[in-house]
Amino acid sequence: MRCCSPHAKSANKIFSFFAKSYRKRFQKKGFEQSQIQLLQSIQQTGFKQYSILEIGCGVGHLHQTLVEQDAASAVGVDLAKEMIAEAKDWANQRGLTAATRYLVGDFQQMESEIAVADVSILDKVICCDPNVAQMLDATLVKTKKAIALTYPRKRWLVLFGFGLAALLMKILRSRFRPYVHDPAFVEQRLLAAGYKKRYEETTFIWLTQLYEKI
Ligand SMILES: C[S@@+](CC[C@H](N)C(=O)[O-])C[C@H]1O[C@@H](n2cnc3c(N)ncnc32)[C@H](O)[C@@H]1O
Repeated sequence: MRCCSPHAKSANKIFSFFAKSYRKRFQKKGFEQSQIQLLQSIQQTGFKQYSILEIGCGVGHLHQTLVEQDAASAVGVDLAKEMIAEAKDWANQRGLTAATRYLVGDFQQMESEIAVADVSILDKVICCDPNVAQMLDATLVKTKKAIALTYPRKRWLVLFGFGLAALLMKILRSRFRPYVHDPAFVEQRLLAAGYKKRYEETTFIWLTQLYEKI
């Protein structure tokens, strides 16, 4: 495992603890609205036969669904080793072992292990990272055609909720903190790298966007 800052170590602990419940929730309830939007945005790229890289892939339901819908292959990376254990097991159950590959560790420290993919996905992941610029730049290096992402909207109720979550983490003596990054900054970074925004939708909390290389 390539890891880690104190922040990343704490993220591993927290998300590993929740791995089984993430999988159960997907199996019981399916995708949430923001993930339905994310899937739609990727489907609009004509993604069939594309390679997918999902950073912070959790238990893998999103990229595994894309592989079932004829994406060529998928690589899932996550800091949390129990998330990857669930993702591997689920890929196996779905008959997707040959088309999927999994890596445990901090994506930003794994450049040599990860090939460039057609589409990269960051579903509720940049909000785990204090340095959004670094995360976006590392993703750009590994992306050929499109970046699809969901992250929190910058509105006061969301800021308040994330603030409470950060306070809870502090009380629990965790070094992990959730972040609400400025959407204008994310957009400007990706546009400056030669991408164009092709999709944008929202839910009460989440902003879903897809940027395509021009
Ligand atoms: C809120 S969860 C979302 C999981 C999944 N994308 C989903 O929506 O079901 C964020 C995930 O990103 C992972 N993560 C955060 N920063 C990461 C990094 N730098 N490298 C790899 N994984 C990361 C965490 O371990 C966690 O599993």
